Amino acid sequence: MSNIKTMIIDLDKGEIVDISPDSYELAKELREEGKYKFLSAENDIASIKKREKFSKVYIEYKDDKINTLILPVRGYGLWGILYGYLAIEGDFNTVAGLEFYEHKETPGLGAEIDNPKWKALWKGKKIYQEDGQVSLKVIKGSVLENSDDFVYEVDGLSGATLTCNGVTNLIAYWMGSDGFLNFINNLKEIDV
Ligand SMILES: Cc1cc2nc3c(=O)[nH]c(=O)nc-3n(C[C@H](O)[C@H](O)[C@H](O)COP(=O)(O)O)c2cc1C
Repeated sequence: MSNIKTMIIDLDKGEIVDISPDSYELAKELREEGKYKFLSAENDIASIKKREKFSKVYIEYKDDKINTLILPVRGYGLWGILYGYLAIEGDFNTVAGLEFYEHKETPGLGAEIDNPKWKALWKGKKIYQEDGQVSLKVIKGSVLENSDDFVYEVDGLSGATLTCNGVTNLIAYWMGSDGFLNFINNLKEIDV
């Protein structure tokens, strides 16, 4: 049996909070004082300026175990912020999928992030190196089959290096300690 639970988490603590996800709206969180923080230039890897205190995440359970974790991610591309979801398998390291639902990139160039062929390249890729560092990135050109970093690399989109850098940056940010890392570490402890 599979079922999906929607929950609100406190990003800094990495903990689930008792807030109803029904009325949650990211845009609203980012407008209300006290519900977001401004990021310093140094920490703002994804160029989003502000980060919400609470995030709405989805967990898909299969036979009472976490099968997929679906996390909202965003970061600046070339023309605006790319908004999407990164789905991660129950090992909290393997990518199940990456999908953007809103962006302003150019059709045929940056907007190729929506191309099903490109999206398919993400499945099975790994996020974290053994030392915990976020290593997943979009490279320029094609990933070599025999590359040591094959599992951490995704082919770049030609003519869209700036958009691709935006995707790399948003993964680095949201999978790091200012993003979902604390939550993931907590889940690992619970879900043994
Ligand atoms: C009208 C116009 C729209 C563009 N749109 C994008 C875009 O959506 N994403 C992007 O990365 N580059 C876009 N570019 C190209 C960038 O300026 C840059 O040349 C490109 O990202 C470099 O990629 P490449 O190294 O693969 O050639 C656009 C360029 C022009 C003139």
